Parts: sequence; structure tokens; C-alpha cells
Amino acid sequence: MTIDLSPVITIDGPGGSGKGTVGQRLAWRFGWEFLDSGALYRLVGLCALGRDIKLDSVREIANIARNLEAQFAVKEGDFGTEGIILLEDQDVSSKLRTEDCASAASQVAQYDDVRQALLERQRAFRVEPGLVADGRDMGTVVFPDAQLKVFLTASAEIRAERRFKQLKTKGMSASLSAILADIQARDYRDTHRSVSPLIPADDAVILDTTLMSVDDVEQKVLELAKSRFLQLGGLS
Ligand code: C5P
Repeated sequence: MTIDLSPVITIDGPGGSGKGTVGQRLAWRFGWEFLDSGALYRLVGLCALGRDIKLDSVREIANIARNLEAQFAVKEGDFGTEGIILLEDQDVSSKLRTEDCASAASQVAQYDDVRQALLERQRAFRVEPGLVADGRDMGTVVFPDAQLKVFLTASAEIRAERRFKQLKTKGMSASLSAILADIQARDYRDTHRSVSPLIPADDAVILDTTLMSVDDVEQKVLELAKSRFLQLGGLS
């Protein structure tokens, strides 16, 4: 069996399951492109909040998604090279990580028109030598032909704790109980929406990360990738 299109590894799962960190590390290791698809939904949410547009005004929100002027870039920070996200030339990386933005993202992500508007933008990340794509529907909708699909899960409580620690280390204020409530509300919306709900693809490998460190998860996905791509013709 040969690989015709550039290889893709999809990592889907709920917020706080570790998919972003693990996906980024793998992409860096392989020298592949990385797609943080959640950031696109967050950008749409942020734009809508900034323009005072109601999050259920589907036409206006889809318009924002179609015309999103966003760039994923890198800059030299205090701790070396870091990825940043620009919206209309402004660095909005920190704003995007707030729970308000996450909640707005999951509200706008319910609408098919919004998802369709972002589909081709996401597929354009599939370039040589390969792509690691992180999100909710990477394996089911955006890259259904991905060579390796991973679905990470973890209890809501542990995911809330991870998010809490992450925000604290970044010096942002946070309340554990508020984060847990937000995560549970987002999980409910993401798994119950009618379009592209958060579910594992039939051919995804499911990993429960509740009792795993991020290093363990990275190692496990790395092993899966190595064995899958060796079978398919090698991972350079
Ligand atoms: O992954 P992240 O927490 O940044 O995603 C924010 C929100 O964007 C999710 O709660 C979800 O509603 C939405 N999303 C989505 N499909 C994706 C990625 C994110 O619906 N592929």
C-alpha cells in the first residue's frame, strides 16, 4: 500500500484531553505542519464578541468565518520560538485561550454554514511532508482518509485540573469550579450538536489519558504513528 496524498495524523477529543500539546510535539518532531482547528473556531468567536454580534446570528457568523483574516505565525519569545495567532495583524494568542473565547467558539461551531466556511481553510494545511491536525472532527469530517486517527479522552475533572494549572502557570486568574462547569457545558454542546459532533471515527484508536502524563500520551501516539507509517511505507 502506498501513500498518495500527504500523510495526516488526526488527534481529536474534548478540551483538556492533551491533544493540542501532543499534536504540536509530534508535528515538531516529524517536521510536519500542525493544524489547531479549535483556534479557527475561537477566532470566529472572538471576532463576533469584538463586533458585538450575537452568537446565534448564523448568517453574520458564517460571514465572519468566510472572511477571517487570520495568520498562524512564529515569533522569538522569552522561552525561544513560539507559535502565535494574528487576527487582522494583531496578536490575539492570549485572548484566544480565555474561557469566554472557548465558550463562544463552541457556540458558533454548532452551525453547519460556519463549519463549511472553515472546511477548505483546514484542508489547505495538508501539505508535504505531512500534517498533524487537532480538533473535534478531524478524523470524521475534515480528513476522513487520514492514515492515523487518534481519539483522546479523559474525565472532565482531570481536564479541568489540567486547564486550571495551565492558566495559573501563564499567570492568568482562574477558578477550578468555573472551569469544570465550562468544560461540562462545552462537552455537552460539542457531543450533542447535529453537525460534526464530537465522536471518534470508526477507525480511530481511542486512548483514555486520565491516568497518563502528557509525555506518556506523546510516546504512545508516537509508537502508533511509527508502526502505522512503517506499514504504509515509512515515516521520514
Ligand atoms: O480545541 P479548542 O478547545 O480550542 O476548541 C474550541 C471549540 O471549538 C470546541 O469546544 C468546539 O466547539 C469547537 N471546535 C469544533 N471543531 C473542531 C475544533 C474545535 O467544533 N475541529
